[in-house]
This record gives sequence, C-alpha cells and structure tokens, in this order.
Amino acid sequence: MIIGCPKEIKNNENRVALTPGGTLSLVGRGHTVYVQKGAGDGSGYTDADYAGAGAELLGTIEEVYAKSETIVKVKEPIASEYALIRKGQFLFTYFHFAGSRDLTEAMVKSKAICLAYETVEAPDGSLPLLVPMSEVAGRMAVQEGAKYLESPSGGRGILLGGVPGVMPANVLVLGGGIVGTEAAKMASGLNANVILMDISLVRLRHLAEIMPKNVTLIYSSEYNIRQQLSRVDLIIGAVLIPGAKAPHLITRQMLGEMKKGSVVIDVAVDQGGCIETCHPTTHEDPTYVVDGVIHYCVANMPGAVPFTSTLALTNATFPYLLQIAQKGWKQACADNAGLAKGLNVVEGEITYGPVAEEFKQMS
Ligand SMILES: NC(=O)c1ccc[n+]([C@@H]2O[C@H](COP(=O)([O-])OP(=O)(O)OC[C@H]3O[C@@H](n4cnc5c(N)ncnc54)[C@H](O)[C@@H]3O)[C@@H](O)[C@H]2O)c1
Repeated sequence: MIIGCPKEIKNNENRVALTPGGTLSLVGRGHTVYVQKGAGDGSGYTDADYAGAGAELLGTIEEVYAKSETIVKVKEPIASEYALIRKGQFLFTYFHFAGSRDLTEAMVKSKAICLAYETVEAPDGSLPLLVPMSEVAGRMAVQEGAKYLESPSGGRGILLGGVPGVMPANVLVLGGGIVGTEAAKMASGLNANVILMDISLVRLRHLAEIMPKNVTLIYSSEYNIRQQLSRVDLIIGAVLIPGAKAPHLITRQMLGEMKKGSVVIDVAVDQGGCIETCHPTTHEDPTYVVDGVIHYCVANMPGAVPFTSTLALTNATFPYLLQIAQKGWKQACADNAGLAKGLNVVEGEITYGPVAEEFKQMS
C-alpha cells in the first residue's frame, strides 16, 4: 500500500500521525511511505529520521495527497486540503464530523473513505483512539492548575502539595473517567487533598480500589459540589455524557462561593464545559478571570505537549493502520468490527449513524 503522511497545517498542531518507528514497520512489510518534509519537526522527528526509516520525503502537501492511496493524519482536513482529496482515497484521522457541516459536505463530495479515530471501538465498547488524548489532558490539567495557582500567574499562591507543617491545596475533580482518573492520580501524587466526584457508583467503587488515601470519592450532586466550593483551590472539570453537551455542574452563581485566586481547568470545554462561565481558549491566550477565579479552558490541551501526544496517539493508532495496510481497508474492517465503527463517510455516503442523523439531508 502507498501511505502518505502530510504535515499538519491546523493552527498550533504540532503532532504527526506517523513516527519513524511506524514508518520502519510499514516499509519493512513492503509498503511505500511518503512523508511531507518537516512533518515531524514539531514532535522532535527530523526528515533524516524518516528517511533513515525508509520513507520517501516529499516537498509539498499536494504531492503527498496526489501520490498516496491512504492518508494518515492527526486533525481533520481543513478547507485548503479539501480539493486535494480524491475519489477512492482512504483517510485515517480525527474528523469529529458532527461539529462541521462544511467538512462533512466536502468529504461526501470527494467520494473518499473517511475512517475517524474518534469512533473506532474496542471490544468492550470503549474508544481506544480517544483514550490517549484524555490521558494526556487529565495529567496536564494538574500541571496547568499548579502553575496558575502560583502568584505570578495570578493565582492565590498555594503549593499543591504543601510542605511538612503546612496544609496542601484542596483539589476537586468532577468526573472520574479517563481525564478525571489521570488528574486525580497526578494531584494526589503531588500530595494535594483530592476529592473526586462521579455519578457512576460502579466507577466510584472501581476507583476506591485503585486510588491512594488522599483521594476521597464522593457521589456527584449539586449539594455535594456546593459543600466543597468555599474550600477548594483547584477544580478540574472532566465530565462527559456521550453525545451530549456537558452539564453545567458549577453555575455562574455558584462560582461566587469560590476563593479569589482559585483556579478552574475545564477539560470538558470541548463538549461545552461543565462550568457555566467557561468558554474555549487557545494555547496563545489560555486563561481569563471571572469573579476572581482563573479559568483555563483550552480545547486542545494535548497540542501543547506534542512529543508526548504524538507517541501516545500513534501507540494507539498504529496497530489499526497496520491492519489497514496489510489487508486493505475493506478486509480490515470486515475482520475487525471495532475498526469498522470508524467508517463515517464512504464513497459519498455518510455511514456513521449519529453523523447521518445530524446531517440527514446529505445522506
Ligand atoms: N480539552 C482537551 O484538550 C481535552 C482532551 C481530551 C479529552 N477532553 C474532554 O474531556 C472530557 C472527559 O473525557 P473522558 O475521556 O474522561 O470521558 P469519560 O467518558 O472517560 O469520563 C467521563 C466521566 O464523567 C462522569 N459524569 C457524567 N456526568 C457526571 C456528573 N454530573 N458529575 C460527575 N461526573 C459525571 C461519567 O460517569 C464518566 O465517568 C470529554 O468532554 C472529552 O472530550 C478534552
């Protein structure tokens, strides 16, 4: 198979979809790999690294699309790429179709095959190509929180872990899924007092088995959240109701009960946020203040740590890419029902139910 890896051109996207290690495995199995010059720069991989692994370097994105049967990417194609995608070409990347009518229309029109990372399923129904980015965001949320709690960043000037003789900070994590679990592990590892809330008792029972003693598990309710507001220094929003907007667990009015200089990191901002006063921010300008509370609401947190994120992502995507390369997409999807769940748009048809529902008139 001829596989192409273009350089990501979305603003501030430094990840790359294929590493030199992945290239080596593909080339070793007889596949041809084209990599756009500079594609790995943001993640610490040079053109020489790819060439050494057997890739052929191409100077322009146009050449990569023109010469490749399969395109592997990180983010959805942006408008300037639409015209480069042709009938029958296979694209493997994050698409998030439901969020963009333009993208969906363009991909339907192209008659390409779009297999979206975000809807590939593992046998247990989990989403294995979303998990790694949630792991990165959850861990990073604590780092960012610790930074913004420092006085020079505008915070109230408290060290998450305290020191012997001084109380540590109080951290409230809302949601105990992937993001929340990783955040709670990091905050507790730094010796903070952590409360994690979830509405799933099954999840809380599981977390009770694996969390250290400085993580207290509480059922999530408005009453229980209100009881914590005046004492917390850092809140991490990590709830998800699949397919729905995040619920506003902290309203504008409730925010007033928090201490000045405390921090909220709303990781769930990509689903609307679970704190009413949150709106999406960027890495260039990540925070703003409401009622004296610092809000950090960056919608693509993993983009700030591309060295880690590229490896975390490709560790998860590569086994699927290999199946596609070895068998062709049709056979790979026939053999792996979870991979087939990733097919969102196939040769002019929307094949993924929720996306078809969203854009009924197009299908
Ligand atoms: N900002 C970013 O860069 C970034 C990166 C990765 C993920 N995310 C987002 O983070 C969010 C969480 O992702 P995840 O992978 O941890 O999801 P997940 O499904 O693993 O976990 C969500 C958890 O929220 C819990 N929940 C639902 N309603 C709740 C409520 N009312 N109170 C408390 N808990 C509740 C669920 O029971 C579940 O345990 C998602 O919106 C995801 O898109 C953002």
